[in-house]
Amino acid sequence: MKIIVIGGTGLIGSKLVARLAEHGHEAIAASPNSGVNTLTGEGLAEVLVGADVVVDVSNSPSFEEKAVMDFFTTSTANLIAAEKDAGVKHHVALSVVGTERLADSPYFRAKVAQEKFIRESGLPYSIVHATQFFEFVKSIAQSATDGDTVRLSPAKIQPMAADDVAAAVEHTTVGEPVNGHVEVAGPQVFGLDELVRKGLAFANDPRTVVADANARYFNAILTERELLPGPDAVLFETRFEDWLNRQ
Ligand SMILES: NC(=O)c1ccc[n+]([C@@H]2O[C@H](COP(=O)([O-])OP(=O)(O)OC[C@H]3O[C@@H](n4cnc5c(N)ncnc54)[C@H](OP(=O)(O)O)[C@@H]3O)[C@@H](O)[C@H]2O)c1
Repeated sequence: MKIIVIGGTGLIGSKLVARLAEHGHEAIAASPNSGVNTLTGEGLAEVLVGADVVVDVSNSPSFEEKAVMDFFTTSTANLIAAEKDAGVKHHVALSVVGTERLADSPYFRAKVAQEKFIRESGLPYSIVHATQFFEFVKSIAQSATDGDTVRLSPAKIQPMAADDVAAAVEHTTVGEPVNGHVEVAGPQVFGLDELVRKGLAFANDPRTVVADANARYFNAILTERELLPGPDAVLFETRFEDWLNRQ
C-alpha cells in the first residue's frame, strides 16, 4: 500500500514510517521539513497522488489556544479536501484517550474539533485514541513546574511507550476503516503525580512532586478517571520501569 504519514518526522510518525517500510509498504513521511504543510496546503496535492491511506500524526507547534485550534481545524480541513481529490480510501488519525472529557483544555478542545471534522468528512476513517506516551512525562512535569515544585493531580493515568503507540497506529493503518475510534493504553495505572515522581527520580531531577487535586492538567481539572481508557482498550506490554531502564 502507498501510505502518506503526515507528521512522519515526529516522535510517532518516524517510528510508524520505519515500521510500515519494514513490512513492505511504500510509506512516505510528509511534513514541513519535506515541503508538505497541511496548514497552508503546500505540497499536499502532489504528495497524495496514488495514495491509498493517509495517517495524520502531526501535532501543533504551539499549544496556545488560538494557534492550536487553527492548526487542527485548518490542517484537517485542508487534508480532507486533498484526500477527496486524490481518491484516498482511508484516513487514520492519532488522538488522545479522554479527549472528549477534557473540554477545559484548549489543546483538547482543538483535538475534539479535529475529530469532528474527520467524523463528518464522509471519508472512511479510523481514529486511534492513545494514552499519554512515556516520552511525554517530561513535558507534563515541565507544564506543572513552579520553581522547584511540580504540582500535579493524583488522578489516574495509564501511559504507554511511543513504540507501542506506533505499533497500534500501524495495525489500524493496514486494517479496514473502523469509522469510529479504538483505544490503546499501557499495562499499568499510576497516579499522575506518582508517574512524574518516578520519572524525575530516575533522571535524578531534584524537583519535588506535590499531589494537588486542584492542579490543572493542560488547564483541565481532573477528578479521577478522565485519562483512563475504557474496558475495550487494547493494552500493550511495555512497563514504565522497563522503558526507563532502556533509556
Ligand atoms: N503526547 C502524548 O502523550 C500523546 C498521547 C496520545 C496522542 N497524542 C497525539 O499524537 C500526535 C503526534 O504526536 P507526536 O508527539 O508524535 O508529535 P511531534 O513529535 O511533536 O511531531 C509533530 C509532527 O507534526 C509535523 N507538523 C507540524 N506542523 C505541520 C504542518 N503545518 N503540516 C504538516 N505537518 C506538520 C512536524 O513536522 P516537522 O518535523 O517538519 O516540523 C512533526 O513531524 C498528536 O496529534 C497528539 O495529539 C499525543
